[in-house]
Amino acid sequence: MKAAYINRTGPPESIIYGDLPTVKPGPADCVVKVGAVAVNPIDTYVRGGLVPMPLTFPFVIGCDLAGTVVEVGAEVDRFKPGDRVWGSNQGLLGRRGTFSEFVTVDENWLYATPRNVADEQAAAVALVGITAHLGLVRDARLQKGESIFVNGGSGGVGSMVVQMAHALGARVIATAGSDARTDLCRMFGADIVINYKTSDVSAELKKVAPTGVNVWWETVREPNFEVAVANLAARGRMIVMAGRDARPPFPVGPFYVKGCSLHGFVMFNATPDEQRAAAEEMNDWVARGKLKANIDRILPLAEAAKAHRLQEENTIGKAGTLSGKIVLKP
Ligand SMILES: NC(=O)c1ccc[n+]([C@@H]2O[C@H](COP(=O)([O-])OP(=O)(O)OC[C@H]3O[C@@H](n4cnc5c(N)ncnc54)[C@H](OP(=O)(O)O)[C@@H]3O)[C@@H](O)[C@H]2O)c1
Repeated sequence: MKAAYINRTGPPESIIYGDLPTVKPGPADCVVKVGAVAVNPIDTYVRGGLVPMPLTFPFVIGCDLAGTVVEVGAEVDRFKPGDRVWGSNQGLLGRRGTFSEFVTVDENWLYATPRNVADEQAAAVALVGITAHLGLVRDARLQKGESIFVNGGSGGVGSMVVQMAHALGARVIATAGSDARTDLCRMFGADIVINYKTSDVSAELKKVAPTGVNVWWETVREPNFEVAVANLAARGRMIVMAGRDARPPFPVGPFYVKGCSLHGFVMFNATPDEQRAAAEEMNDWVARGKLKANIDRILPLAEAAKAHRLQEENTIGKAGTLSGKIVLKP
C-alpha cells in the first residue's frame, strides 16, 4: 500500500511517499481503507523530533483519519466491514500513524461517521474538534449564557472552539488576523470578532466585555497572561494548550484574588472514554450542520511533505498562508 512515512526524524523533506506492507489487525483492531486524513501541528513536531515519541521505523505519520472498515479483529464489537468511521490520536505514544491507504486502529479510537458527512469533513474535525470539546466541556465547563474569548478563532482548533461555544449557547468573542478571517469567525458563530493585527485587543475587549469573560481560550503559543487575567471575569477559567517552550510572566495577585482557574491539557492524554464522549457530541453537531470542518485545502497524500512544510510555516513561522486544515486523500 502507498504510505507517507519517515525512516528518521527530520524536516518535512524526510517524508517518503512509497510502498509499505499492509499491517495485520490485532484482536481489537479494525482495518480502515482511508478516505481522507488531516494534518495537525503535532504531526510536524513528532516528524521533526521536537516532541519525543516512541517511534518504530518506518514510521507512518499522522493522527487523524476517516474511511471505511474493511476487516475487523476477532474481539471487535463496535464495528463491522462496510462501516464508515473517523478517528484521531494515532501516530502518538507508540501507535502507528494514519497517512496510508489502509490503517489498523484499535476500535476504541474509532467513531461512526454520520451518513451525511464526507470523509474529508470527518478527518478535518477529528483532533481539533476533540481538543476543543475536552477543553470547553470537561475542563472549562462552559455554560449557556456565559461569555468566551477565543484568541485565534480562525485556526484549526480556534474554529472548532468558536462553533462549539456557539452551539453550547455562549456569547463568543474571537480574534483573527485578516478581514477574510474575521468574516470566517462570524460565519462560524462568533458574535464579536477583533482583528488582532489592526486593533488593540485588550482595549476592544474592555469595551465589549467590561466585567471580563467567563472563559479565555488561548491558542497562541506565547500567551500574554497580563492581558488574559485582566480580561477574565471573577471565577473565570483560562485554557492553555499550546507553546511547550513558553515561559511568560504570570500575574499571580489579580488571578487568585478573582478566584480564576487555569487549565492545561494535551488531547492525546485524554482516555478513550473521554475522547469518545467528545466525539459523540461532535457527531451530533456535525450531522445537524452545527459543526463544520474548516478546510483550507485538499491535497493528494503524495504531497504529505508539502503539507507538513505549509503547516509548519504557519503554526511556527506565522506565515499567514493557511487558514484551517490541510486534508489529504490517498
Ligand atoms: N494541547 C493540545 O491537545 C493541542 C491540540 C491541538 C493543537 N494544539 C496546539 O495549538 C496550537 C494551535 O493549533 P491549530 O491547529 O489551531 O493551529 P493553526 O491552525 O495553525 O492556527 C493558529 C492560529 O493562531 C492564530 N494566531 C497567530 N498569531 C496570533 C496572535 N498574535 N494573536 C491571535 N491569534 C494568532 C492564527 O490566526 P490568523 O490565521 O487569523 O492569523 C490561527 O488562527 C498549536 O501550537 C498546536 O500545536 C494543542
